[in-house]
Amino acid sequence: MKVRFENLTKSFGALDAVNHFNVELEDGELISLLGPSGCGKSTILNMLAGILPVTSGKIWFDDDDVTNLPPEERGIGLVFQNYALYPHMSVLKNICFPLEIQKVPKKEREERAIEMAKLVHVETMLDRKPKQLSGGQQQRVAIARALVKRPRLLLLDEPLSNLDARLRLEMREEIRRIQQETKVTAIFVTHDQEEAMSISDHIVLMKLGIKQQYDEPQRLYDEPANQFVADFLGNPPINNIPGKFDNGTFLPDGGSEAIMLDRFKSVNYTGRVNLSVRSESFTTDNAGSETLPCVVESVYKLGKDEMARFRLGSSEFRAYIPSDEGLEAGQSVKLHLKKRGVFLYRLDDGTRLLPNDAQAEVN
Ligand SMILES: Nc1ncnc2c1ncn2[C@@H]1O[C@H](COP(=O)(O)OP(=O)(O)OP(=O)(O)O)[C@@H](O)[C@H]1O
Ligand SMILES: [Mg+2]
Repeated sequence: MKVRFENLTKSFGALDAVNHFNVELEDGELISLLGPSGCGKSTILNMLAGILPVTSGKIWFDDDDVTNLPPEERGIGLVFQNYALYPHMSVLKNICFPLEIQKVPKKEREERAIEMAKLVHVETMLDRKPKQLSGGQQQRVAIARALVKRPRLLLLDEPLSNLDARLRLEMREEIRRIQQETKVTAIFVTHDQEEAMSISDHIVLMKLGIKQQYDEPQRLYDEPANQFVADFLGNPPINNIPGKFDNGTFLPDGGSEAIMLDRFKSVNYTGRVNLSVRSESFTTDNAGSETLPCVVESVYKLGKDEMARFRLGSSEFRAYIPSDEGLEAGQSVKLHLKKRGVFLYRLDDGTRLLPNDAQAEVN
């Protein structure tokens, strides 16, 4: 089923928790709502589920306006962070329960529940009570219970946040597998960028109720639409080097010489900017005229990689370097910029500045 949000807005008094939200997802897709705490993710899910009335705007399921439809008529399966299983019921009873409410005959509901138990790999635990299951197993049962009604849409609100790191990894792969096997359209809420990047067809990144970018995971990383998106995605975080941009030249704060940034020479802007560069986007190979005169501050190992801290003017930043480079603290070095992972954002409002030719490509 297709889902479309049209100018969806939710206000709590003066606060717009969700502000003119427009997104469309295709049948069978899994998208993530990603963003920091309080950005409106759960509010969107609750409006979708019909638990929370909308302030304005519309929700469409295929060609049906469901904005005012009661929750039980929406055909939605819900999975929350705190599994919310019924403690006194067995696994089988828990999965059957939604069908019991729908008055599905006993034989059919048990068959369907067992089919779901198999799908989520808990079919050997049907007689156990929830407290006899691990957190991951409980979450599997919760997913089976949400899917047994054959919902048109599956909503998952931070379903992995009560699990330890290893289980989170395993369960997010499981959620993706189950979603792909059932082909159910799904919306997954998380504030964990890696989780969203690894399981989604598309990601909506939100800030204070406002959509920042809706894109494929890799494009969010490769083409961040504004400073917030660039800062939110990536580990280590993107390096922001503030300075003054003047039609193709960049003077870093505290620096003495302006740097020609060839790729931005068609950007018609004069003012304060961040030159934002991913740590993997610096190189010591001479790759053109975009030369950054830096000083090595320190060199250290980060897991399997070698990194260095550099100073450019009054800013510091981190970059991966080849370990055979033999850099030492205090040394002057000329760094160059690779093609990917280099962005220019206005300091005043975080807008991305694009060269003329790239403008057409990104829009
Ligand atoms: N019933 C309510 N009354 C007033 N304000 C609310 C209510 N529910 C949510 N809010 C506010 O709306 C904003 C969005 O809340 P929401 O729960 O959607 O955030 P979230 O993105 O799910 O955050 P988290 O990651 O912490 O779960 C927050 O500022 C929150 O305080
Ligand atoms: Mg929430």
